[in-house]
Amino acid sequence: MTTQERERETAGRGRVEGVRTVFSGIQPSGDVQLGNYIGAIKGWVDRQEEKENYFCIVDLHALTVPQDPEELRFQTRSLAAMLFAAGLDPEKCTIFVQSHVTAHAEACWLLNCVTPIGWLERMTQYKSKAENQETISTGLLDYPVLMAGDILLYDAHEVPVGEDQRQHVELARDIAQRFNRIYGDTFVVPEGVIPEIGGRVMGLNDPSVKMSKSHAHIRGHAVRMLDDPKEIERSIKRAVTDNGNEIRFSDDPERAGVNNLLGIFKVLTGLDEAAVEAEFANARGYGDLKSRVAEVVIDALTPIRQRHEELMQDVDALDRLLEVGAERAEAVAGPKLDAVKELMGLTLTKR
Ligand code: AMP
Ligand code: TRP
Repeated sequence: MTTQERERETAGRGRVEGVRTVFSGIQPSGDVQLGNYIGAIKGWVDRQEEKENYFCIVDLHALTVPQDPEELRFQTRSLAAMLFAAGLDPEKCTIFVQSHVTAHAEACWLLNCVTPIGWLERMTQYKSKAENQETISTGLLDYPVLMAGDILLYDAHEVPVGEDQRQHVELARDIAQRFNRIYGDTFVVPEGVIPEIGGRVMGLNDPSVKMSKSHAHIRGHAVRMLDDPKEIERSIKRAVTDNGNEIRFSDDPERAGVNNLLGIFKVLTGLDEAAVEAEFANARGYGDLKSRVAEVVIDALTPIRQRHEELMQDVDALDRLLEVGAERAEAVAGPKLDAVKELMGLTLTKR
């Protein structure tokens, strides 16, 4: 489709008949870890053929907590390289940096004005992030409205994310519905798509907390996507388990460590639960389990790490890909934003 056709199609609701639009985002802060891959990126790659896809590197979201400017710049490129290295195809997906498309910040303001502040104060991620900050930025509270804008500008039907983002996607739905009620049918009400297994990969050092980028520097917490095989093996071998020896899926919190390792194994091998348990029927304790899990993680991540290294050697090529992505995103988000502004009474001449 040409850009003009795209613009025409997207000024209203729904684009190419029958094709579902997917939007998701990931922050360029901290090291991308296995939970990001299993909970989000892998699903994006696996399903990129079927849909119209937008994947956004959300640098404006990263700014909601303090960032070093040079480090943020580096992480933004590194994350772009990671998404391409993981298998997202720039022919099939629009991959871009959030701040390169100004419609996102503008949409956030417009949506702020229809979002009751109580909705934001209730968000569990805000509450837990705010606990650890000396000063809390207004951006941190407003974070889910920026995210709602991201999604709604593209009329996304599906938002594939990990479990921790469920509440934010729900909020985006609430905001869309409220806007539609006030101004008339404008936004598609999006749905969160959360993997059944792998939606919440837990910390290796503490299986009661989710594996997270912000803790990825803590030894033994995470497998980082760019860790070399030795490091991956070391982290997995050190993973906290329990005193038993049964290698079964379980929702017993006491057995969360083993369950987590099995979940990782399941997603990366594509086997079902019964087949995974059968794989370990003759295992000699958790040592065997850990070796096998380390093996499949290393097999999955090694080609990604190598490709990432290659891509990072040609920053200009990477930046060009992101420029093309931003142009394509702008062609969709720009007209949508104009339509919203007009509805809200901001455009003096009506079309
Ligand atoms: P973030 O690291 O917050 O930018 O998250 C990017 C994507 O990865 C989001 O869809 C998250 O829900 C997902 N994600 C982050 N950590 C995990 C985890 N431990 N398990 C599963 N998904 C995760
Ligand atoms: N808040 C999400 C996270 O930290 C990232 C994000 C920003 C996002 N905008 C989005 C995810 C839009 C899905 C859709 O994981």
